[in-house]
Amino acid sequence: MLMTGPAADELADPVGEIDLYDPARYAARSQHGAWHRLRRDHPIWPQETPDGIRFWSVTRYRDVAAVLMDDKNFSSEHGTILAVAAGDSAGGKTINLMDQPKHADVRLPTMRLMSTHTVRNRADQVRARVRRLVADVFDAGGTVDVAELMLHLPMCAVGETIGLPESIFDDLPRWAMAGVAPEDPQYAEGSPAETLRKAHHNLIAVFSELIRYKQAHPADDVVSVLLGLRPDGRPMDAHEVLLNCYSFAMGSVTTTAQVASHLILALAEQPEAWQRLRSTPGLVPAAVEESLRWASPTNHLLRRTNAPVEIAGTRLEAGELVAAWVASADRDDAIFADPYTFDPGRNPNPHLAFGLGPHRCIGGPPAQQVLGVLLEEMIDRLSEFHVAGPVTHLTSNFINGITSLPVDFQPVSARRAAVIT
Ligand code: HEM
Repeated sequence: MLMTGPAADELADPVGEIDLYDPARYAARSQHGAWHRLRRDHPIWPQETPDGIRFWSVTRYRDVAAVLMDDKNFSSEHGTILAVAAGDSAGGKTINLMDQPKHADVRLPTMRLMSTHTVRNRADQVRARVRRLVADVFDAGGTVDVAELMLHLPMCAVGETIGLPESIFDDLPRWAMAGVAPEDPQYAEGSPAETLRKAHHNLIAVFSELIRYKQAHPADDVVSVLLGLRPDGRPMDAHEVLLNCYSFAMGSVTTTAQVASHLILALAEQPEAWQRLRSTPGLVPAAVEESLRWASPTNHLLRRTNAPVEIAGTRLEAGELVAAWVASADRDDAIFADPYTFDPGRNPNPHLAFGLGPHRCIGGPPAQQVLGVLLEEMIDRLSEFHVAGPVTHLTSNFINGITSLPVDFQPVSARRAAVIT
């Protein structure tokens, strides 16, 4: 999605023009005008999917937070993305699609593997992987498609933690993106249905083999932990473990990479922010949080009401779908001063990019770590970089993604050499 703030004429458009569902709109334009308008005038907004399924949108920070915090009234089991508004077949089986008490049985043991403490112990390994990923381009300079390159960043952070074999680090990101955005031409292999089928086929094949391997060779990783769990008092079967592997792999790949691409694009477009970071590297942690707020890579999170409940001043009956627009909450000027500006020093920054409440992202610490390492490597090795060609955006109402971002990088050494000669 384009990241421009609302244009004056958009704020006067008839609200009937607003469409938060159409995935193509996210490839072609910014939705920030629509969200701004809804926050201002219609904090709860009904719309139908193309299949005629009604969903309510909440767009203000406090309403998005209220929905995400209240898992008693707002259930995840029906599905958490609009693409499966009719109901997700993995409902009740994967960590992100479970309600209490089963959810806690899966979350607590897997969360340990991604705690701040565990992540700190892996810092050297993560830095070595990031260096290998960016070495060619940061050392030699030149033009590279950052969107393509950054797809490999998440595996630097959590590939081993999840238990994935290095042999699939190269292919997994494309399959994951095809699985989350089968309509996008960048990842299409035939029709959207065929693309989805092929992506699932590839992912299921590698996860099935991985599960067989981990059954015989357990280690301290997510897949091995899942194999030993007994949610609801019975062991997870291989199919449930497989579905959870899918959630972890998708959860890491489709988000972390997009924050990195949006961060690089924002810094390329705002050289003053880049220079500020270079001269004040102590801002890196704040800049990472700002990149999370700025990108908010999961645009929405869907919930279904379990009981009659009031939200945004409206009473909803049980069984209603509510889309909590995280990307809108993170531009709410009731919380964030100057929300349409990328400010690498923003503090405080209580963004909702990782969600909130019982399902808040458990991959937050490794994601923050790898984004910080990337920024530090950029500060150490790059003097300047510029967008060097057309930028294209993902066709998806769920993931705020960039599909192509050609950037021309100039390493520090090249600048020094130019000054000397
Ligand atoms: C910048 C990177 C990331 C962002 C923005 C992000 C975003 C999110 C969000 C918004 C949720 C909440 C979903 C909900 O409430 O329905 C979530 C949950 C989750 N994320 Fe992440 N994520 C990121 C990285 C990761 C990584 C690296 C992993 C690692 C495996 C991961 C694994 C998960 C899992 C397993 C859940 C489900 C937690 C639960 O339901 O209890 N994510 N993520």
